[in-house]
Amino acid sequence: MEIKTQVGIIGAGPAGLTLAHWLKKHGISSVILENRSREYVESRVRAGLLEQNTVDILKDLGLADRLLKEGQEHHGVYLNFDNQRIRVPFGKLTGDRNITIYGQQEIVKDMTDAWQEAGERLFFEAEAKKIIDIETSNPKIYYTFEGENHTLSCDFVAACDGFHGLGRKTMPKDSYGEYQVTYPFSWLGILANVAPSSEELIYAYHERGFALHSLRSNTVSRLYIQVENDAKVEDWPDERIWEELSVRLATEGWKLNSGPIFEKSITPMRSYFIDKMQYGRLFLTGDAAHIVPPTGGKGLNLAVADVKHLVDGLVDYYKNDSIKTLDNYSSQALKRNWRAQDFSNFMTTLFHKQDEHGSFQYQLQKAKFDYISISEAYKTTIAENYVGLPFESFEEILIGINERS
Ligand code: FAD
Ligand code: DHB
Repeated sequence: MEIKTQVGIIGAGPAGLTLAHWLKKHGISSVILENRSREYVESRVRAGLLEQNTVDILKDLGLADRLLKEGQEHHGVYLNFDNQRIRVPFGKLTGDRNITIYGQQEIVKDMTDAWQEAGERLFFEAEAKKIIDIETSNPKIYYTFEGENHTLSCDFVAACDGFHGLGRKTMPKDSYGEYQVTYPFSWLGILANVAPSSEELIYAYHERGFALHSLRSNTVSRLYIQVENDAKVEDWPDERIWEELSVRLATEGWKLNSGPIFEKSITPMRSYFIDKMQYGRLFLTGDAAHIVPPTGGKGLNLAVADVKHLVDGLVDYYKNDSIKTLDNYSSQALKRNWRAQDFSNFMTTLFHKQDEHGSFQYQLQKAKFDYISISEAYKTTIAENYVGLPFESFEEILIGINERS
């Protein structure tokens, strides 16, 4: 069977769903193909930290009712180094921009419900197998659904299909450059049925390695620790995890609550990037085009920011018959991506154990932390990157400077 739409979207993660809703707001049609089942997508535990931009976009799209009720807005963040704790407040350092903690799978649930309630098309367990004719004005996606072959015929293809997706593999190898860094450590992440031990997040350097305290609700805590790249979940029984977390996060007068762990997984840490996110009528967004190490919580937020730039381009095309904004998609999106790569790399190198305690590398990390603790300027840099730079004061200004020079 062949179906037609204006924008064919591969992937029902945060990028694909945000794009579909945003296009709909502008009267542009789309169909989403997702190779996993709905249950699988909605139970995949991942991000939790939403920047101010992301929350504002979801509000504008009318998709934030539950987020505003159940999400937790934070007005600062704690940073630990060798068991010393400081706080970086957002408020006046960011012009009152904040972060909100709300699970990625909850956002995906909310957006999927709204899409289906509006009677729009999203096919689960529909795997995109091949994208063809991307150099023409009528590209097509071949996909399988319920054991049969189908075709989605469209004006544009948006590959929002994550790091292992089909979109990037479809772009000619010589059409983009690649950057790749693999970090020599991984994260073990847990979810536990226990009240959070801190109202705000804590990022910690300790001689035994990095630790992060986050949360999902008043009764569920989300925590991470640095582990070896070859670590296995089986090496980490619950008692060992809690022991390690309580040592690494400790500060005087503070106690870590422990409780039953119901989710454990290991994530490798990498930076990955391509320098052209478009080929012909195929556009890549989110993890399909870039991965940042998770320290600082940028991945999902970058995916949503890419979507903003792609929507700008598609609206300009359909409303004004102009391809100019679409042609600038990649360069616009890459500016924010480079900023986030730098910030995520900064947070990762500051808080992870990379060399022995007392080594040159350690002393640099310690010197940085000491400076942050006394400098309003350094705290401002961290706060404004952490809550996310507004589009008007970042891409738009940079593009203006680049055009003048
Ligand atoms: P994905 O969420 O990967 O979605 C892609 C979708 O495409 C998937 O559903 C996949 O099944 C589907 N797909 C793939 N191939 C096909 C195909 N051939 N046909 C059809 N469908 C296909 N980010 C933050 O911003 N804040 C955080 O706090 C944060 N914490 C994180 C913690 C961890 C432990 C991890 C692992 C990640 C974290 N991230 C965080 C990153 C964030 O989860 C990702 O950046 C985000 O999921 C990217 O969204 P996406 O829509 O681009 O890709
Ligand atoms: C979370 C994940 C992150 O990578 C981060 O920097 C902050 C919070 C989280 O899952 O809550």
